[in-house]
Amino acid sequence: MAESQKKPVRYLSGVQSNGRLHLGNYYGAIQNHIRLQDQGECFYFIANYHSITTLQDAAELRKYTFMAAADYLALGLNPDKALLFRQSDVPEVTELAWLLSTVTGMGLMERAHSYKDKVAKGIAPSLGLFFYPALMAADILIYQSDKVPVGQDQIQHIEMCRDMAGYFNNTFKKDVFKMPEGILSQTPKVAGLTGGKMSKSDEASVIPIFGEPAEIKKKVMNIVTDSKGVAEPKDPDQNVIYLLYQLVAKPEEAAQMEQGFRRGGMGYGDAKKLLLAKLEEVFGSETRARRKKMDENPDLVEDVLLTAAQKARRVAAQTMEQVYEATGIPVSKIKKQISAL
Ligand code: TRP
Repeated sequence: MAESQKKPVRYLSGVQSNGRLHLGNYYGAIQNHIRLQDQGECFYFIANYHSITTLQDAAELRKYTFMAAADYLALGLNPDKALLFRQSDVPEVTELAWLLSTVTGMGLMERAHSYKDKVAKGIAPSLGLFFYPALMAADILIYQSDKVPVGQDQIQHIEMCRDMAGYFNNTFKKDVFKMPEGILSQTPKVAGLTGGKMSKSDEASVIPIFGEPAEIKKKVMNIVTDSKGVAEPKDPDQNVIYLLYQLVAKPEEAAQMEQGFRRGGMGYGDAKKLLLAKLEEVFGSETRARRKKMDENPDLVEDVLLTAAQKARRVAAQTMEQVYEATGIPVSKIKKQISAL
């Protein structure tokens, strides 16, 4: 087939709206999502049905859902190139999650690391939290996605999704679903300020992308280091200041800091200042101004979300037709009437 006739690759990913997006989200996933808008058909959504497993406050959920959308747009997501919609605007996805659950063994679900980690952190083990991977599988499969760009922590969920797609196709003897593939960004795991990875569940570990400058400054300046003096050689690989700087700075700038640490001469205080300046350069005034525009024009954001949801829903409806056909669940007249409203 000629290059121009090839079907574009369909990328799909979701982002939760249960807190402020941080550098771990950006370098682990968002940056990749935005880059891919020039390489294929992109379906991105704000996973508010997933977020409600851990955020059960209407005003907060609405706020963070808006914020996630506004952040993506300010960071460079172009709505003419990529779809950005709310998960809940395509309600068929929950219906599909149910159908997938009927072919999914408890054993598979019980192996989910993410569920176990969340429960270990003290999140209540609700049925929804347990069911999370089935909803995620439905998200991926309903749009016949080819590739799913995510951070390291989501790879197992994608494996589970592939299992569910296989069970479904086998059980109903019809190849309804495509096998999706997970893809990682260059930095699938970003170091956090408190030693582990940067994670929403540990507020002290994160640098929020759109935090107030004073807050970001405080967070960077408070990064705990050892007590080595300026002249002493230091190991940059264990050093969160360098690890973050390396993500934000140009390679030659990062190499300079690295050498300064290894040879001695680079102090922690100066390194923190360099990191702050870079953060300001990359996420500072221009990006912040774009972000502010979103706050001032929430209707624009809403428009983007609704237009994209309509397109996404059409694709979802095509898959659901095959799902109904394969399973024997009828598309009743009443359902058709409601979705035509
Ligand atoms: N679970 C993902 C996260 O927390 C978000 C998500 C929901 C997702 N549905 C998805 C990611 C489908 C990729 C594909 O990051």
